[in-house]
Amino acid sequence: MKEFAGKVAVVTGAASGIGRAFSRRLAALDMKVVMADVEAGALKAAAEDLEAAGHAVLAVPTDISQADSVASLAEQTLEHFGPAHVLCNNAGVFAAGLSWEAPQSDYDWVFGVNVWGVIHGLRSFVPQMLAHGEEGHIVNTASMAAVTTAPFTAPYYMSKAAVFSLSETLDAELRAKQAAIGVSVLCPELVDTAIARGDRNRPEHLKRKAGEGESPERDLVESAIGAATPTGVDPVVLADRAIEAMREGRFYVLAPEDNPWRTACNARLEDIRLARNPAHAVPDP
Ligand SMILES: NC(=O)c1ccc[n+]([C@@H]2O[C@H](COP(=O)([O-])OP(=O)(O)OC[C@H]3O[C@@H](n4cnc5c(N)ncnc54)[C@H](O)[C@@H]3O)[C@@H](O)[C@H]2O)c1
Repeated sequence: MKEFAGKVAVVTGAASGIGRAFSRRLAALDMKVVMADVEAGALKAAAEDLEAAGHAVLAVPTDISQADSVASLAEQTLEHFGPAHVLCNNAGVFAAGLSWEAPQSDYDWVFGVNVWGVIHGLRSFVPQMLAHGEEGHIVNTASMAAVTTAPFTAPYYMSKAAVFSLSETLDAELRAKQAAIGVSVLCPELVDTAIARGDRNRPEHLKRKAGEGESPERDLVESAIGAATPTGVDPVVLADRAIEAMREGRFYVLAPEDNPWRTACNARLEDIRLARNPAHAVPDP
């Protein structure tokens, strides 16, 4: 995608972290930005920030795990700014746990947001983007988790592998249709965001019951993520990395070559290439 100014961008998870940085950077390119998030108060504050700086934004409280909510986001985008050119399917949540002990509510919550959220985004926005026929781009936020392995992380790692696979399929389909829509799969390393406090937006009916799925391994991973995220990179770095990929039409947007997550990814790819047993190299979070 070459021209951003005056075009319409939609960002999910726009109230915090990487989504908020996406909104800021796309607005700075003179895009009209539709900011969607389930946390209405934080969304309002984030949108007001950009409005105060003179940017054209629309804040739409949205639960991306719900098809109707995302369909309504697409309708409001069309009515307010016209059809979308850029779609950042970015909102996501984290839960750890032993694969056989994690309660179904953990899988349902994480898959609802991380996987169904992206599916709903594609189903609601791709027809709108194809209809106008102008150049566009879709960025799906997966994670380096999608291309590495780690124990005690099944709900999250599986969900990100699904986003990665869906992005490859989407790209193949859009190429087959000769559509003017590029695709990138954004795979961040550790980023300084509020992801470890994702429970703040977890629906009541999907909350863990006392003691459910409890294990020392789950506590270890969840507390390690909480302790490590403040040492992660600035979310703006990720927004800029993705925007550069959009400009260059690059699909895979991975952690830099010298990053430990990239080393772990390369080791896994080599294990697969040689069909040898996985080394399970996990970088310290
Ligand atoms: N922070 C990291 O280290 C890291 C690493 C790799 C990938 N990611 C991915 O980056 C993306 C953004 O996360 P972040 O790190 O900025 O975390 P964050 O918690 O700071 O931001 C996530 C946003 O998503 C919103 N959200 C949660 N559930 C939602 C729902 N049902 N509908 C709409 N919005 C919802 C939250 O309210 C929040 O504003 C996620 O997909 C995450 O998996 C993060």
